[in-house]
Amino acid sequence: MARLKVGVLVSGNGSNLQTLIDLCATPGFPAEIALVISNKPGVMALERAARAGIATQVIPHRDFPDRLAFDQAIDAVFRANGIEFICLAGFLRVLSEMFVELWHNKIINIHPSLLPSFKGLHTHAQALAAGVRFHGCTVHIVRPVLDDGPILVQAAVPVLAGDDEQSLAARVLKAEHQAYPLALKLIAQGRVQIDGTRALIDGKAPGPAALLMNPQE
Ligand code: GAR
Repeated sequence: MARLKVGVLVSGNGSNLQTLIDLCATPGFPAEIALVISNKPGVMALERAARAGIATQVIPHRDFPDRLAFDQAIDAVFRANGIEFICLAGFLRVLSEMFVELWHNKIINIHPSLLPSFKGLHTHAQALAAGVRFHGCTVHIVRPVLDDGPILVQAAVPVLAGDDEQSLAARVLKAEHQAYPLALKLIAQGRVQIDGTRALIDGKAPGPAALLMNPQE
């Protein structure tokens, strides 16, 4: 059977990309990462892709007059390469409504909080300021509204006494590295259905399989 051709958008280190690369390297895995696009040159994510023999392209957003033109360029490159599904992995640009609708239900993102709490930037600082006992990450289907969309997988970590932004970010990142591959696996296996604002797995409301508690342990 043909493997699902996945394109990944990155802007930085690419540690989440690495977990997706490793997942797709599993023998018989039903998806492959066929192209990685970065809006920034020279980032570690590009090196990770190249090391794995994956095609890369740099498309600097500054080369385009506006968001729409940049998004159209990305769309054209993905389509020219036969990409069928997109993962955002530390891609620090907001996608236009046009792009998100062109790829309706075919883009997933990882966000470093338990959505719908703490959207936007500085999520770990937001969590510390709110005094929450649990924090974490969310993999969700992308919608035009920022950090919105049906939730596929969440991973929760405790907020410990003495945590600062860095220690909390490190704990959440470890959780991300388990949540994102799980989400792509569910997608690649064709087990995800979208029902309005919610994602179903195997036709049902997601059970514990899509919630990782204390995932670093
Ligand atoms: C990750 O923590 C990811 O959740 C976050 O950027 C980091 C990228 O790390 N994404 C966002 O904040 C998107 N709103 P990585 O490049 O090592 O995967």
